[in-house]
Amino acid sequence: MTWWQRPFPDANTLLLHGRQPALVDSGFVGHAEETAAWARAHAGAVDLVVNTHWHSDHVGANALLQAGGAGIAAGAPEAEAVSRRDPGCCAAEYLDQPVAPYTVDLPLDDGQMLRLGDADWEVVRSPGHTPGHLALWQPQERILVVGDALSDYDVGWVNLTLDGPGTAATALASLQRMADLAPRVILPSHGPVPGEPAAAFAAALRRAERLVDDPAGAVWYGARRIFAFALMIRDGIPADAIEPYLHARAWLTDAARLLDLTPEALAHELVTNMLRSGAVLLRDGRLHAAADHTPVAAEPLRVPTRGPGRARGRAERRTEGIRSQSGRPQKDPCRPTSAK
Ligand SMILES: [Fe+2]
Repeated sequence: MTWWQRPFPDANTLLLHGRQPALVDSGFVGHAEETAAWARAHAGAVDLVVNTHWHSDHVGANALLQAGGAGIAAGAPEAEAVSRRDPGCCAAEYLDQPVAPYTVDLPLDDGQMLRLGDADWEVVRSPGHTPGHLALWQPQERILVVGDALSDYDVGWVNLTLDGPGTAATALASLQRMADLAPRVILPSHGPVPGEPAAAFAAALRRAERLVDDPAGAVWYGARRIFAFALMIRDGIPADAIEPYLHARAWLTDAARLLDLTPEALAHELVTNMLRSGAVLLRDGRLHAAADHTPVAAEPLRVPTRGPGRARGRAERRTEGIRSQSGRPQKDPCRPTSAK
């Protein structure tokens, strides 16, 4: 296998070589060409893309690879939502993150065995970070692909505003289930491979317990992560546009309600706190995320990726873009469109 540790806004990408070359997660839409070229260079062709979950940094090259003939596999709840064109697909509109439209060919259930490359992997449902999140377990080699359930030595952020008050407890239970597998190697979607898997799970479990005990803290944690990602994919946001941007976001309005604040007060406090902590920086009149990240060209944020290939017609008939030329979300990635 080849593992590609990538800075934000891309999730780490895993390529499983063999008779059925497979890619686990496909990065951010702004880097779809780069992801596809990397997979081609290392494996020739990709038969299957497996998504640990449907966040934009994990599914960005799905459409391009699908247009080139790859199948897309995803956890059953997310696969079903994509199939029925659920407006909440990928939480793309909610989080204001672009996703080029794709379809799911293979819904995955807990316990299902999947041939990836030349090995069999077991699907381990691990809801929490998203309701449809899954991990992949290779029992002979004791390798566990954990997606965003665990990053480095921390639990992945949970979205209490979208997924409900029990979400942190759900994430905690999923972490415990994965820890019980006692993997030899953990492959997370962000950050490096943890040197000590058992210690990584112990630290992440403690952190998840704190999120269960402190729902307000969990809401703040999620808000910081969503906002930092918004800054990364836009090469920062002009300082004078920050508050109008935040006030218009569904996730911020919902978080404010849970925190018993007005959206204006939450937006102000979020920016102030993140500036103070150094998580965001003011540079040349724009607010930037401080975390290491790769620039994204503006154009892919506005125009959904549409690659050439034999699946193109099918993809174009079934789905359409979520952004107009103005850059505003217009259609969710899963709604049906009239046949062309
Ligand atoms: Fe995620």
